[in-house]
Amino acid sequence: MTRDKITTQTVLARKGGPKLKMITAYDTPMAEVCDQAGADIILVGDSLADNMLGFPDTLAATVDIMVHHAAAVTRAQPAALVVADLPWLSYHISVEETVRNAGRLIREGRADAVKLEGGRKRLPMVEAILAAEIPVMGHLGLTPQSVRAMGGYRVQGRQANPARELLEDARALAAAGVFAIVLEGMPAVLARAITEAIPIPTIGIGAGADCDGQVLVLHDVLGLSLNKHAAKFVRRYANIAETAVNALQAYFADIQSGAFPSNAESYHMDAEAARVFKEMVGEME
Ligand code: KIV
Repeated sequence: MTRDKITTQTVLARKGGPKLKMITAYDTPMAEVCDQAGADIILVGDSLADNMLGFPDTLAATVDIMVHHAAAVTRAQPAALVVADLPWLSYHISVEETVRNAGRLIREGRADAVKLEGGRKRLPMVEAILAAEIPVMGHLGLTPQSVRAMGGYRVQGRQANPARELLEDARALAAAGVFAIVLEGMPAVLARAITEAIPIPTIGIGAGADCDGQVLVLHDVLGLSLNKHAAKFVRRYANIAETAVNALQAYFADIQSGAFPSNAESYHMDAEAARVFKEMVGEME
């Protein structure tokens, strides 16, 4: 069944309504799978750096890489809203560079919106992107691009003062006009307070059950990686990597035994052509 295209207006209207279902995807077939499953939002996350490309963190993602993967996702023409991450250093240097980079994700990647990490200190960038008519999603709390500054992947806002700062960041982003905010790695009580304080949807990851939606990384949900340590907040619904290893072992065994390919999996000449061909080859020998 085809669905209506989900827009940022659809997402905004879901504040306090049916929970928003968001998932990452980085390529065409997986975007098709996510869309068919009913995702509201597909995030082309910079987490592709560690989940797809073998880097230790998201800092390796560049604008070129993000554009490449955003374009692969949008070629699936999903009904889901496609949000593409602005990678580290693509919105930290100047407002002009920020808008140019956000524009590339929209024009070349065909994304519907962009996401960036951080609160009030990113407001000039957020406002400039919005002024260029590009919808923006915020991202607060444990922001992976700040892994060096945070001294590791640490839950944020566990104490009252930092929690209040995050609440003020959320208020400022909402007032600036972002259409939703990802809340990552923070106490559930703080995520709930933010969700209640702002008029736009919050989407949680490691932020408790009270956000307006939830997001996880596709590779974690499906068990697509053999050797990845999963965070406490991840729930794995399948072990596709193990299924894939088993399937490939069966394929390799069939190659060795001669069971693959079968007659039905091979192309054939009609009987007369085969007879003529055999005669020809015989003559050539
Ligand atoms: O890059 C990503 O996958 C993200 C999610 C964890 C929200 O930003």
